[in-house]
Amino acid sequence: MRLGIRKEPSSNEARVAGTPASISSLIDLGFEVVVESGAGDLSSITDQDFADAGATIVTALVDAAPIDLLLTVGPPASSDIEALSDTGVVMGLLNPSATADELAGYAGRGLTSIAMELVPRTTLAQSMDALSSQATAAGYAAVLFGATRLPKFLPMLVTAAGTIPPGRILILGVGVAGLQAIATARRLGAIVSAYDIRPETREQVESLGAKFIDAPTQEMDEGGYAKAVDEETAAAQREILASAVAESDLLITTAQVPGRQAPRLVERAVVERMKPGSVIIDMAAASGGNVEGSEPDTEVDINGVRVFGPTDLPSRVAADASRMYARNLLEMAQRMVVDGVLAIDPQDPVLGPAIAARPDSQGASE
Ligand code: NAI
Repeated sequence: MRLGIRKEPSSNEARVAGTPASISSLIDLGFEVVVESGAGDLSSITDQDFADAGATIVTALVDAAPIDLLLTVGPPASSDIEALSDTGVVMGLLNPSATADELAGYAGRGLTSIAMELVPRTTLAQSMDALSSQATAAGYAAVLFGATRLPKFLPMLVTAAGTIPPGRILILGVGVAGLQAIATARRLGAIVSAYDIRPETREQVESLGAKFIDAPTQEMDEGGYAKAVDEETAAAQREILASAVAESDLLITTAQVPGRQAPRLVERAVVERMKPGSVIIDMAAASGGNVEGSEPDTEVDINGVRVFGPTDLPSRVAADASRMYARNLLEMAQRMVVDGVLAIDPQDPVLGPAIAARPDSQGASE
């Protein structure tokens, strides 16, 4: 069984799908591991580190073809497909809703695609939940990104040159990323408030030492996710949140509803009420944005307020984001090897739901 780890092709991506620790465990599982030269450079892992863990370093993965299992961060490129064996498997954050046609095409050629986004959010699958591990990295990175763009301190400082009041941070959306953002903001000494539509988040927010904003809440769906709210509730939310938004120095929004456009929580008129120099990080910018006027990967100035929509937050803390992600992949790979052979059981409660596409001969591909 040959396993490949590529250098990610996107210039926006600093993460890598393996670490020396994960590679040595993969070798113990029976894989021969091949790593593309430079794959770990932006995650502080050298070729030598990978080689010391037992990997073979190659200039291009295709030089090591055929590869049975390819681990990636983003969707596969055509050169990756060339490197795979006729029955190869690619596993990564494949963005299956956007790449379904491509993945179905690869399935037509015998390949299986495992999308880490489709791993169920269950207790059993927690160690494989890459959405959670990468949201943790993103929530942390969002606060630091915002803090470095603010023209003020976040902690209260009592100095001979006067007393500086603490900064105010508001977090909207308290899922995995929001919780990590609250914890990070508290560590920096800011006054933190937060809000989420799911009522059980109040206790989580308060246990982290932040204030929960009393706006409408509603029960989640049976999958544990937030449901879309009706227009009346949305309007009530926006009105109550408006004064909290206007008073914050740094606003971080993370609200998402799976499979739908992100809910609009903050209108432009409210952004205009914030102090000039305030900062907004809209983590939902790529799915429509929680803040009116935010744009993915662009800085927008609204009345002196700097609005950012970074989509590469986990990549900004690439070394540790890679470490967590590589661990998620390793745990998946462990479920795929049976008696030293790569065998993906579609009935497996974690692997089954994560199969984004597979050859017809093995059952219907999605
Ligand atoms: P997500 O990225 O889908 O959404 C982020 C947050 O936005 C969620 O907390 C959601 O409630 C909130 N939101 C949606 N619409 C909103 C609105 N109109 N106003 C305010 N907030 C709004 O969420 P994430 O972080 O992926 O987690 C989703 C759920 O899955 C959570 O309930 C979490 O506790 C659960 N989960 C369970 C796991 C497990 O049991 N192993 C692992 C990870 C997450």
